[in-house]
Amino acid sequence: MELSATGREIGSEPPRVVSPIRLIVSLMVVLFLAEALVMFVLPLIFHTSIAFVDNFADSVLLVLISAPFIWFWVARPLHSSAREVERLNTALAERAAELQQQNVQLQRTYAELQTETTARQQAMEELREKQQLLIQQSRMAAMGEMLGNIAHQWRQPLNVVGVKVQEIGFSHRHGELSKELLDANISSAMGVLQHLSQTITVFQNYNVPDKEKSLFKVEQVIADTVQILEESLKNSGISLEVETGGEPQINGYPNEFGQVLMNLILNAKDALQERQPGDPRIVVRSWSEEGRAMVTISDNGGGINEEIMAKIFDPFFTTKALGKGTGVGLFLAKTIIEKNMGGCISVRNTADGAEFRIEV
Ligand SMILES: Nc1ncnc2c1ncn2[C@@H]1O[C@H](COP(=O)(O)OP(=O)(O)OP(=O)(O)O)[C@@H](O)[C@H]1O
Ligand SMILES: [Mg+2]
Repeated sequence: MELSATGREIGSEPPRVVSPIRLIVSLMVVLFLAEALVMFVLPLIFHTSIAFVDNFADSVLLVLISAPFIWFWVARPLHSSAREVERLNTALAERAAELQQQNVQLQRTYAELQTETTARQQAMEELREKQQLLIQQSRMAAMGEMLGNIAHQWRQPLNVVGVKVQEIGFSHRHGELSKELLDANISSAMGVLQHLSQTITVFQNYNVPDKEKSLFKVEQVIADTVQILEESLKNSGISLEVETGGEPQINGYPNEFGQVLMNLILNAKDALQERQPGDPRIVVRSWSEEGRAMVTISDNGGGINEEIMAKIFDPFFTTKALGKGTGVGLFLAKTIIEKNMGGCISVRNTADGAEFRIEV
């Protein structure tokens, strides 16, 4: 049953209200007629004195006259109050039932939400574990890449040291070892060994995870990254140009930033090796703009297909063959630049390749 604001059933007729004055006048007329009847008709029928009948009629009349007033002032309000209380009770019971229903619904929704939250937490935990695993794999791949680069970088200087040492032995055997030759070869070998030792320090520091933020020079991180990669790029016939200016600085994680640069340069290298343009080239530029550090890494490897452009930063998105790419390089780069350092990384296609832009 639908109730209106006043508690009345919607659509039902309003109760007919009889005017009290009309009621009282009607009663007076009826009583007057009754009195006349009693006064003049009853003595004739029962042969009693008019005084007795008159007294009797007066008493009856008094009771009858006061009855409507008693009814109007006492019984009627009491009755309507009781009706109102009953109506309120019904409304209250209905409201209580509604509330009970809502409570049950609320409890059901709460239970559903709890189940959903648990499932979501579980899914997030699984995703985090998966990401952790991939980051680990990506680190291993980067280490493998580094070892390859160390091999490239060290082969030639080690040859130089070998040649210098052999020259000393050869000259000594033939009685031609002068003091000048010995000093020159020792100093040259020591120079090379020092360079190798320095590259070891760079490699070592490069892989140490940053514990806390520090102010670092972007040019320095570019130089370290280029030092690690330049030999293997040279070996692949790819030229690497670096244009720096404005001495940009960043308050962040230098080694993570280096990892981003390495991922971007290695992606460019992969694109160049796949497309094989005539003059494969990677250009790294850095400058300062309105207090922000800017870096671009561009190549002439043909660029990125517009259809996949929106997906390349997604985790596990790769166009490379199984074992060649895991699809986490750019996802990690975005996480490091945007989440960890509050910067921004974007990409666009140029006339002959792709250009990644970092702003921090
Ligand atoms: N410089 C680029 N030129 C052309 N395509 C690129 C370039 N950089 C990235 N891409 C595209 O973006 C995709 C995603 O790159 P991302 O670095 O995330 O993964 P990946 O290189 O495939 O694998 P991983 O880096 O994990 O070894 C690549 O598979 C490639 O298709
Ligand atoms: Mg990559």
